[in-house]
Amino acid sequence: MSTPAQKDCIIAGQILLFHGDPFLITPTEAVTVSPSALLISNGRIADIANLETLRTKRPDLTVIDHGDALITPGFVDAHAHYPQTGIIASWGKRLIDWLNTYTFPEEQRFHDAAYAREIAAMYLDFLLANGTTSVTSFCTIHPESVEALFEAAEVRGMCIVAGKTCMDRDTAPEGLRDTAQTAYDQSKALIARWHQKGRATYAITPRFAPTSTPEQLEALGALWAENPSCLMQTHLSEQTDEIAWVKSLYPEARDYLDTYEKFGLIGKGALFGHAIYLEPREIARLQETGSSLIHCPTSNTFIGSGLFDMAARKADGLRVGLATDTGGGSSFSMLRTMAASYEIGQLRGAALHPAQLLWLATRGSSEALHLEHQIGSIAMGLEADLTVIDLTSTPAIAQRAGRSTDIWEAIFPTIMMGDDRAIVETYVMGRPMRPT
Ligand code: GUN
Ligand code: ZN
Repeated sequence: MSTPAQKDCIIAGQILLFHGDPFLITPTEAVTVSPSALLISNGRIADIANLETLRTKRPDLTVIDHGDALITPGFVDAHAHYPQTGIIASWGKRLIDWLNTYTFPEEQRFHDAAYAREIAAMYLDFLLANGTTSVTSFCTIHPESVEALFEAAEVRGMCIVAGKTCMDRDTAPEGLRDTAQTAYDQSKALIARWHQKGRATYAITPRFAPTSTPEQLEALGALWAENPSCLMQTHLSEQTDEIAWVKSLYPEARDYLDTYEKFGLIGKGALFGHAIYLEPREIARLQETGSSLIHCPTSNTFIGSGLFDMAARKADGLRVGLATDTGGGSSFSMLRTMAASYEIGQLRGAALHPAQLLWLATRGSSEALHLEHQIGSIAMGLEADLTVIDLTSTPAIAQRAGRSTDIWEAIFPTIMMGDDRAIVETYVMGRPMRPT
């Protein structure tokens, strides 16, 4: 099924534009906000100018004027687990116990294609309600779970990245294990079916070193070498207990990253979730190979993982994306995720500027996913995925924004206190999508 074509239109509001990386140049020069308008044609941004100019140029088009609302690129959630939608906010466990107690039992339900379809649809609608237009999601070991998510995204016209989560080690429960061969075969079939079909991208997905045998990591490394335009997603150095566990399972590895590196699972297009506790050798290899890190702040506080060092990793020159990591993360909202990232920055001694937070949730993530030529910015020729944000969505936010003396002070209360109530509209390829 394909989505109906969206009619050309003009969308106006306070538009957020990027002129550089706000971690490399002054944030307020890298990111600007000004009243402006977008000409949307065939789902893409065809022009950016003031409203009167575009009205004069194209008097035939409908104008959707969002007034004082902020228009940002659609949020890009660079790491999530859609099958964990039903167990989000599960109490009292740290990573390994949390996986065994809550996550693995729920993921076993996804052998049922109807259940997978039901959760996939609900999940993507939660994202759209929260202004998120793209996600990179783990699925479960079941190919049905991957089909369900890609199909639900196709119906909505969304640009997503997903892959079959591979686990063949007896550290995972019996009903949730594949083999090195079936992981290879099923992932290969899913690549043939979905990769670069419409807006879909496939990510080869070993869950993490503790749930794969070296044979499985080797098979998935070979599959990636055969399909280099795919992405590769996994987890790295999230909790100290996990790192000790990896050491015991892979005694010959130089460090956690080496368990992946040995099998070619590193490099441009590799997405490492969390990456909180890194050795100097790991940082050097991540830099040299152009790998991406994905920061998941609500997850890192919720499961008690630790404090990612954003300032240091950006100074290292790494690509860093931002993500919810639901259901380890405690929210579907990238606004809540930006707020948590700010708080972790504060605990690390670095206050992230609102321009940096918005950049991470959009362009930073799209660069981490190597999709910046398609999504993550408002720029000529890019796909018109947009989020429209009310900067006065609750009385508490409105009274604080009302005291602001510049645009960043007006935006920051929504980043720190906002949620889905702040999302006025979510456009996917220029089509309004926010569920009512
Ligand atoms: N490490 C391996 N699997 C997972 C997962 O599902 N969530 C998180 N947060 N970490 C993981
Ligand atoms: Zn994760």
